[in-house]
Amino acid sequence: MKKIVVLGSINVDTILNIPRLPLPGETMAMGDQSTAGGGKGANQAIAAVRAGAETTFIAKVGKDHSADFMLDTFKKDGLKTDHITVDSKAGTGKAYILLDEKGQNSILIYGGANQTITVDDVENARDAIENADCLISQFETPLAATLAAFQIAKKNNVVTILNPAPAKTDIIVPNETEAGAITGIKTVDRKSIINSAIKLNKMGIKRVIITVGSRGSLYYTDGKESFVDAYKVSAVDTTAAGDTFIGYLAAKLDSDLANMVEAMRFASKASSMAVQVKGAQNSIPYVDDVKI
Ligand code: RIB
Repeated sequence: MKKIVVLGSINVDTILNIPRLPLPGETMAMGDQSTAGGGKGANQAIAAVRAGAETTFIAKVGKDHSADFMLDTFKKDGLKTDHITVDSKAGTGKAYILLDEKGQNSILIYGGANQTITVDDVENARDAIENADCLISQFETPLAATLAAFQIAKKNNVVTILNPAPAKTDIIVPNETEAGAITGIKTVDRKSIINSAIKLNKMGIKRVIITVGSRGSLYYTDGKESFVDAYKVSAVDTTAAGDTFIGYLAAKLDSDLANMVEAMRFASKASSMAVQVKGAQNSIPYVDDVKI
């Protein structure tokens, strides 16, 4: 069984249903609201475990009810939680998700305990990282901890996903907006997305995947690009679509990375299923239901 370690955030998501994003200064009535498990780290860890990988999660929660709620979910899914520790001062992370009628979202984050993860927490999980096939991290937890984890991973030939420069990573997986923010290239069409991938590649990342929502995902490596079309579905909530993609990608990827496009197709199918259900973690499918 593939072994994956995820270092990242845990949030309790409050989803606010609104007709459209408010304009600056506008007061707007909203529909109902609901609460669900979230956090990019937690979503990706859950996607990996539901995709069939043995998954260890390095994370931090506060000493509060939100933490109990989240840990319960993780245990039900079979995530390895030994490296989720408690910060006695900061609260468990929270996200406020503005979800419009087209399924698009804008997210506000309170980092809380996520921001207290230290290099020592990573050191305590050294064994798990050294023995993993793949390490995944994001930018919702402190960079110093991510760098320490990536350094351990690289010394032990563990495949890494994402890039906390200056440590090198094997694969970076931003969406088109994030890619644009890193490269400074406005990603508006296929050409600019490819140019953005080329720039990331020139920055030292050998394999670049840019996810482009309902259009699919682009893979760029060694001067060649491959485009994986998205499955055509009717989206009600795109929250955690990217997280589902990354968790499934890691779980399906061979250690020589040769089956990248095939793994992307599988990840794309899982993510197309996630957008048809509201909420983050409750929308992530189980591997037996993902058929391509
Ligand atoms: O990627 C979606 C996630 O981003 C949400 O679950 C929210 O918690 C934020 O971390």
